Amino acid sequence: MDLDPLTAPAEGGRAVEPSWWRDGVLYQIYPRSFADSDGDGIGDLRGIVGRLEHLEWLGVTGIWLNPTFPSPNDDWGYDVSDYQGVHPDLGTMEDLDELIAEARRRGIRVLLDLVPNHTSDRHAWFQDALDGRDAPFRDFYVWADPKPEGGPPNNWISNFGGSAWTLHEPTGQYYLNQFLPTQPDLNWWNEEVREAVDDILGFWFARGVAGFRIDVCHAIVKDRELRDDPEATAADHPVIRRRGLRQVYSMNRPELHDVLRRWRVVTSRQDPERILVGESYVLDLEQLIPFYGNGQDELHLAFNFLFVHAELDAEQMRAIVEGAEAMLPADSWPVYTGSNHDAGRLVTRWAGGDEARTRAALLVLLALRGTPFLYYGDEIGMPDVALDPAKALDPVPHRKGDPDANRDPCRTPMQWSAEPGAGFTAGGATETWLPLGDAAAVNVADQRADPGSVLNLVRDLIALRRERADLRGGSYETLPAPGGAWAWRRGGGTAAAVNLSDREVEVENLPGSVLVGTDRSRDGERVEGTLRLGPWQGAVIALDG
Ligand code: GLC
Ligand code: MG
Repeated sequence: MDLDPLTAPAEGGRAVEPSWWRDGVLYQIYPRSFADSDGDGIGDLRGIVGRLEHLEWLGVTGIWLNPTFPSPNDDWGYDVSDYQGVHPDLGTMEDLDELIAEARRRGIRVLLDLVPNHTSDRHAWFQDALDGRDAPFRDFYVWADPKPEGGPPNNWISNFGGSAWTLHEPTGQYYLNQFLPTQPDLNWWNEEVREAVDDILGFWFARGVAGFRIDVCHAIVKDRELRDDPEATAADHPVIRRRGLRQVYSMNRPELHDVLRRWRVVTSRQDPERILVGESYVLDLEQLIPFYGNGQDELHLAFNFLFVHAELDAEQMRAIVEGAEAMLPADSWPVYTGSNHDAGRLVTRWAGGDEARTRAALLVLLALRGTPFLYYGDEIGMPDVALDPAKALDPVPHRKGDPDANRDPCRTPMQWSAEPGAGFTAGGATETWLPLGDAAAVNVADQRADPGSVLNLVRDLIALRRERADLRGGSYETLPAPGGAWAWRRGGGTAAAVNLSDREVEVENLPGSVLVGTDRSRDGERVEGTLRLGPWQGAVIALDG
């Protein structure tokens, strides 16, 4: 059944909008690395247009583009110098218009990446702010005097290492930068900042953008009194313990939610409604759930970083999913992802490069209740590419002095084919902006021709979601499963089971037939109650009803 994602019927008679973003599958594109149309070794917007056929064939209904705006690229586009333009490396405004229109024609919506926490220091606002304490845009940023005894105003640390404060000697004040010193934080207590960002949203909505992924959405409003962040405790998530401080004043302020509600009003005024997907980088559910507000008045989707940072482990993942299911407000919708341009690729992080584990992980993502976000290359089981951290283009490993912090390995060019240039660059053999991985081993063209490939597994699971209402809007219910395995029911008549362990398991009480198995030879297999799963196998099952 081919449903137009715009007109698909509401689930179970519920009065929800026909929805490409709840029922469909979304796909993250790192534009510099997807497809290079002009042979300069850098992916670009026309390159994406040229590859929309792949996305339509795969069945995705929306794409999120990492930042497309003009930027000095100190942090690869997350240092925006103009929110209403297109980075010349990626193309022109006309190219973006064409991408939006062409994608739309194929039933694919386009989300841009809004970076509202900080600008580039080369943004006109900051250049003005540097002129003096009375400059018109001074208060667009967070400035503070040194402590009476000298030194930064408080103990806040940058996420990229070192103090979060940089002294501007000519005016004798510090400005806040929670990332690079060339990424000054905006002052969200200033109503003019709020209005300026409303205008940016409106500008892009008028051009047909379907919504935004919101960068470091949890951080935008800072404590008005700039109080010190407290030390991390043994009870904190390992990521927080490594950071050393609990960021309860530098970010994660309750006042943030006023801004989210304001943006939701702006998006819901649009026809059709646009969506907001937050990089809500918090590590417990008590903090995550409030990003949905009452279910209707804040974000449409809030990325679940507990899930991203979980291991590919039945008990860990099940607990996170059950928690979200129990806590989400009615009418709000989960979102799950295993890879992104910061955390790395699921093939490497979760699956250690192993194909069976990769298949199991992809089946989990595509069979849970919630919107799956695939990261470009997930569909072919593309791993991170081992690169020399000394040559990293990512500023973070250099700044932190930590080779493991290098994000380049998960940002390498898409592997389209085994040809020279991996089918990524029109120039064939030209040097690409980041090195290519092993495209002979993993690429789209070979896998498209192979019905047993990871690519065809992903496509078939996406098609199954389209065909079975249970897999789209159906409820989630954990089913009994032995240790190391995880089974759940979706809606009235569908179940999924995965074995995330090295030994064979038996999941009882699943009478039905296999719709899609990670081992494709099991498709169509009759299950007489007990489903036997070999190590790292999984299946979606039509329950006898
Ligand atoms: C977000 C982005 C990351 C960027 C950071 C600073 O976490 O995902 O890539 O470096 O924000 O903008
Ligand atoms: Mg190019």
